[in-house]
Amino acid sequence: MQPSQPPPLNENYLRDDVKSQECEDLHSSLPSEEDWVPTSLPSEEDCVPSTLRLYQGFWFPSWVLNSVVACQNHFQAHPSDILLVTSPKCGTTWLKAILFALLNRAKYSDSNSQKRHPLLTQNPHDLVPFLEFRLYLQNKNPDLTAFASPRLLATHLPYSSLPRSVRDSNCKLVYLCRNPKDTFISMWHYFNKFRPEEKGQLPLPEGLDKFCRGVNWCGPYWDHVLGYHKASSEMPEKVLFVKYEEMKADPSVQVRRLADFMGRPFSEEELRNGTVEGILRMCSFDNLSALEVNRSGKLPSGLEKKWFFRKGEVGDWVNYMSAEMGEQIDGVMEEKLHGSGLKF
Ligand code: A3P
Repeated sequence: MQPSQPPPLNENYLRDDVKSQECEDLHSSLPSEEDWVPTSLPSEEDCVPSTLRLYQGFWFPSWVLNSVVACQNHFQAHPSDILLVTSPKCGTTWLKAILFALLNRAKYSDSNSQKRHPLLTQNPHDLVPFLEFRLYLQNKNPDLTAFASPRLLATHLPYSSLPRSVRDSNCKLVYLCRNPKDTFISMWHYFNKFRPEEKGQLPLPEGLDKFCRGVNWCGPYWDHVLGYHKASSEMPEKVLFVKYEEMKADPSVQVRRLADFMGRPFSEEELRNGTVEGILRMCSFDNLSALEVNRSGKLPSGLEKKWFFRKGEVGDWVNYMSAEMGEQIDGVMEEKLHGSGLKF
């Protein structure tokens, strides 16, 4: 089971987007891009003030590349590991909470222990840390022995860029994806939060153009999804493919599916006594977003915890994009997903 308090972290990515001196100092302690990243890697300007670089066919913020490589070189998967994989803004925070609650449910099964549930006092990103966007960003070879088995970790890495041991071991991957139009709009809101004031909001058509060219964090989005979709069809016991919209439409069915996949199916007694509903209540948007721990304060990265909870709805893109813009994303996705059997 996860330790209730993960090892202390000193992650400090995105510090160049945060203006305080303290943040600048922290940022200067990070390995510089020149440590590893060959300047010959294709680059594009990011929507926030940094550079995206094309590495192994996917676009990464340049400041995370050393960490990606360190993770690829050093992370040793255990057969009991469970990795949550997502593209940014697909509902990672929600699934982190659900997987954590599922795995630890025996410890918090009665009303007394539920009052001590770690999700009430810790943000899901602290309970289920990212590999490359957190643990390996802080330390090229972090000591992960503090995590009791089964380790619950997260990554945004594409399937083809996963550390070898993840692909070769019997560890399990839960892949969560989301309708690309909602993902894009969620990302647009998120990036606007940490754009410098003088740059103003990211013009929607500019962001859309990049997204449709595949130039976004861990994009192309379609290649990210397709990699895991294929892996899931070939190895359903290793990779579970989940859609945000399915989670929203029928959460109790999906939570049972997740529990079965993780080898922790609900017992008859749990099904009778409302354990599934309890987990869903605890992890609901309304509950998590109202908790003080998620309403105020920042992650060690400097990102406000509340930025991870915006609306949590399906179809919100219509409130921001014209029909033509929607068709632009649909057109690209149709072309790229053609023949895969996957539809959004
Ligand atoms: P919106 O911006 O569309 O509201 P990530 O966690 O991968 O960064 O994704 C963030 C998205 O997940 C945001 O979407 C956020 O509101 C939504 N989200 C966060 N917590 C959620 C929850 N408990 N249930 C449903 N959606 C949630």
